[in-house]
Formats: sequence, structure tokens, C-alpha cells
Amino acid sequence: MTDKKQIPYKIYLEENEMPKQWYNVRADMKNKPAPLLNPGTLQPMTADELGVVFCEELVKQELDDTTAYFDIPQEILDFYKMYRPSPLVRAYCLEKALDTPAKIYYKFEGNNTSGSHKLNSAIAQAYYAKQQGLKGVTTETGAGQWGTALSMACAYLGLDCKVYMVKCSYEQKPFRREVMRTYGANVTPSPSETTNVGRKILAEHPGTTGSLGCAISEAVEDATSHEGYRYVLGSVLNQVLLHQSIIGLETKAALDKYNIQPDIIIGCAGGGSNLGGLISPFMGEKLRGEKDYRFIAVEPASCPSFTRGKFAYDFCDTGMVCPLAKMYTLGSGFIPSANHAGGLRYHGMSSTLSQLYHDHLMEAISVEQTSVFEAATKFARIEGILPAPESSHAIKVAIDEAMKCKETGEEKTIVFGLTGTGYFDLVAYEKFNNGEMSDYIPTDEELAAGFAGLPKVE
Ligand SMILES: Cc1ncc(COP(=O)(O)O)c(C=O)c1O
Repeated sequence: MTDKKQIPYKIYLEENEMPKQWYNVRADMKNKPAPLLNPGTLQPMTADELGVVFCEELVKQELDDTTAYFDIPQEILDFYKMYRPSPLVRAYCLEKALDTPAKIYYKFEGNNTSGSHKLNSAIAQAYYAKQQGLKGVTTETGAGQWGTALSMACAYLGLDCKVYMVKCSYEQKPFRREVMRTYGANVTPSPSETTNVGRKILAEHPGTTGSLGCAISEAVEDATSHEGYRYVLGSVLNQVLLHQSIIGLETKAALDKYNIQPDIIIGCAGGGSNLGGLISPFMGEKLRGEKDYRFIAVEPASCPSFTRGKFAYDFCDTGMVCPLAKMYTLGSGFIPSANHAGGLRYHGMSSTLSQLYHDHLMEAISVEQTSVFEAATKFARIEGILPAPESSHAIKVAIDEAMKCKETGEEKTIVFGLTGTGYFDLVAYEKFNNGEMSDYIPTDEELAAGFAGLPKVE
């Protein structure tokens, strides 16, 4: 084992050590994620059907569960070089403050203007839209990071970008909205009066603060009703996990350089893209029987898709215009309380991660937001970085695991994904600092109402 002194605070990769291919974990899964279904026929969606909504090349990636590696196009590699590799940081200061024998590492994805990992897939999706000769793309955004990332990627490639932003985030984060507009995006609060589905949701739920599920429906309707546009999604889909595998591949390359073998890998889970990307290459090793790891998904107690959801076919959106995905879900009609981790307020979960969880290859845990902000504040004061509320879910569980090591004396190596920064989340930090933050945990009855709306498929 490597001596502690040899491991720097930040492990970077040289340009020639950076991954040149994305890794598709589905290729190594014995039980593949269930296919997307056409909600009308209940048959697997064909490439032609998906091509009405998504870009052609991305449809190929979405449907391919056998090719293990995809070459990253040179233009995307060049864009990655502007902000990647992201550092893998050894949290020496946090370890010391916790007085734990655990070794803690975090992969910091907040080192770009979008402030999160979302740029890794945004540039890929915008690139394929451009290759197809499209005018532009539409999307939803929750916390705002994905919308910002896509705005940046579209500005770089000269594409039009229309963003439907979940209303509570739009109101809480006016500066995030302005960043998107600065990059040339058109930003609409969702639900809105601009789409049929938005008007319907507003009529049924007046005063709703919106959800990712609503915003997705609006963005899809906008794309399919305008020539030369396609819809792009920042999470949940297989293609997004594929692009985000860059996080895990870099992490693994950096750890391998120092012969470090993690015991526990932790990530927050909204739709599953950062977690899926971080764990993919490690999960591949586990699936192939080469190595073993513990993987932990962390979700908010207010939106507990994994820990209290059902593994069932469901709509990916509230307006029920998208294909059905088999996933852990709270029901597409479930609108979570206004938790401050906007990016984790999604009723469903990646079908790839759902299958892995169902097969007991990973664990999940839900945490309450005040405890998350306690961990965030501790982390900010010790490690210096102001974390996004979403990322802080992973921090909370990494600290808990490190404290367990303190009790048992075990020197476990913990790696967690620090997906982004929290500069636009200061309303949430203000609530926490003022002692005004509350924890909302949905009742069984509320969850039952969401489950009652699940489509009858099996
Ligand atoms: C900083 C940050 N972390 C995590 C997430 C959760 O998304 P995912 O589960 O797709 O990684 C988001 C989503 O908006 C985010 O902005």
C-alpha cells in the first residue's frame, strides 16, 4: 500500500492520461436495464420513434447495451480539455477534523462556469445535435446547473437553446437564470402558459412550484412542435450516464496511479447521472467479478425514489408525453416538497441504476435536508469549497461512513462525488443559517397517491 505522504492533496491527470472513450456499464450487466416502452403500444421504443424526440446519434447510444466503449469525438475531447481533468482531492483536512482513520477522496466537478458535472453530457449532446444539422435544442432544468451547462455548450457550438426551468428554482435563483441568458439561452419558468401540457398542469395544480417531471413535458412538447429542434435531457437516460462515465474513468485512472483501492464510493442521486458516471468503471469491475466495492446512492428523504419507490414502468415526465421507463419511481404525478436540492427533486431514477439497485449491486440511503446542510457547512469551513446542496447529500454520508471508521478503527478508503458548487444556492444556505429550514418527509398516504398513478404495464 502507498504511504500517505506520497499522495498529493490533488491528483491530476496529464493530458495524455485522460480517457479518450466513454464506458458503457450496460455492456457488462447480466440483467440489462429494461427497454423504454412506447406508452401507446407498450412495445419497446424503436430508433425511429425515439428519433422524433432525440438526436440520431444519441438514440444509438441510448439503445446500445452491448458496446462497452465509445470513442469520444475529438471536438468534445478538445472542449473537455478546457475544464478537465477535474481534480481528485484527498480530503486530508476533513480527515483530520473528523479524527478518522478513514481516507477520504472527492472528485470535484464544480470547476467550470456551469458549476457542476452537467457540462460533461451537455457538450456531447449539443455536439451530436450540431452534427445532425439541427437549429437548436430544448430542455428542462431543476437546480439550473444542467440548463447553464447546456447554454454554455450551445453557445460554443452556435446552437439555439430553450430551457424550461422548474418554477421554484427560477424564483429562488434569478442569477442562475441570468447566466443562462448571458450564454444566449431562452429561459421559461415551468409550468408555463407557453405549452399545452404546461397550461394543463397549471389548471390542475394552481400555484404549483413545478417539478423536473413538468418541465420535461414542456420541453419535449416544444421540441416536437418546432422544425429543426430536438429535446435533450441532463440525467436519467443511458446516454447521459455514458457521457458522465468520464468522471469515473478519470477517478479510476487517478487512483490507479497511486495504487489506491477504494472501499466505498458514494454519490448523490437525482436522476442518477453523476452517480452512474462515477461508479460505472468500478461497477464494471464488480460485474466482471474482478473487484468488489460498496456503492451508496444518497437521495433526499423528501424525494426517496430508491428507498421508498416502486420498481415499475412509469412515465419520465408529469405530462405523460415521454416513453415509459422501468425504474424506481414515486409515480410521475408525485410532486416533491420544495426541498432546496432542486436537482434531486425527480420522481424517478436512471433505469440502469435502478436495475443495479434491484440486483443488490448497490445500496441507497435517504437523508434529511437539515442534516445535509450541517454536513455542507462543516465541509465548507474545513475544505474551503462551498458545496451545492445536491452534492452535500454525498458529503453527509461520506462523513457518516468516516465516523463509523472512527468507531471501528477501520482505515477504509471512501471516494465521493462532489458534483458542484453552491454559489447560486444561497437562499437555501440563508434559510439554514437562520434556523428556518424544515425537513419534510412524505407520508405513506402521499406516496400511495403517486403509486396509484403508475401505468398498468405488467
Ligand atoms: C450539482 C448537482 N449535483 C447532482 C445533481 C443530480 O443529478 P444527477 O443525479 O443526474 O447527477 C444535480 C442536478 O441538477 C446537480 O445540479
